[in-house]
Amino acid sequence: MKLSVQKNYEALSRECAKIIRELVASKPNCVLGLATGSTPVGTYEQLIHMYDAGDVDFSRVTAFNLDEYFPIKKSSDQSYYHFMRKNLFDRINIAQTFIPDGEAPDAAAECAAYEEKIAAHGGIDLQILGIGNNGHIGFNEPGDAFVAATNYTPLDESTIKANARFFADESEVPRYAVTMGIRTIFRAGKIILLASGAGKADAIFKALHGPITPQMPASVLQLHPDVTVIVDEDAAGLVK
Ligand code: PGA
Repeated sequence: MKLSVQKNYEALSRECAKIIRELVASKPNCVLGLATGSTPVGTYEQLIHMYDAGDVDFSRVTAFNLDEYFPIKKSSDQSYYHFMRKNLFDRINIAQTFIPDGEAPDAAAECAAYEEKIAAHGGIDLQILGIGNNGHIGFNEPGDAFVAATNYTPLDESTIKANARFFADESEVPRYAVTMGIRTIFRAGKIILLASGAGKADAIFKALHGPITPQMPASVLQLHPDVTVIVDEDAAGLVK
């Protein structure tokens, strides 16, 4: 894994956006894998600035998001569907976007359909990932085994607590989600893992240097041939 330490969150966001812009310039019909959470918001802001300035054209780009709560209404302010529209998709000219459907009648069928849709688009060229304090990527939570394909999964107690900040009350955080699995993520040609702030320093250290274990899901990224970890100085606190 390559480690890129940036001075602060803004520099991290600029660096990630630059890599995305370069990919879109060299492959205008590329497939991006996108993430939600606080960390990629700055990257999306940079991409919107670049788009407004005429520096990038998403008119042939397809995006697949990593995960979605399940069940959740698309119209809910907390859905990742809503998050992506607000923070990126409604503000650029992206051709096609896909997010697991939190309103699907059957979670297992939705997982299988999502996996097939990604394959039908030729797979993901570049996957952006955040990392949970507990080491999760997407909603692949710490557990006894890695799950390969897109799957329906309970959220870890620590994730429910961490995500409660987006809801009126912790009790409103959905208890389940649909997430790309580890093999789904691994099929991406290139992966960028983003982390900002001292709260992520321990997870980043373990992801890069710890044992490869499903107890720390991001550690499996050590096995992917093209991963760049872009962190700010605070998140790099234990690896420098
Ligand atoms: P965050 O979430 O970007 O809001 O810290 C990351 C994650 O849980 O994957």
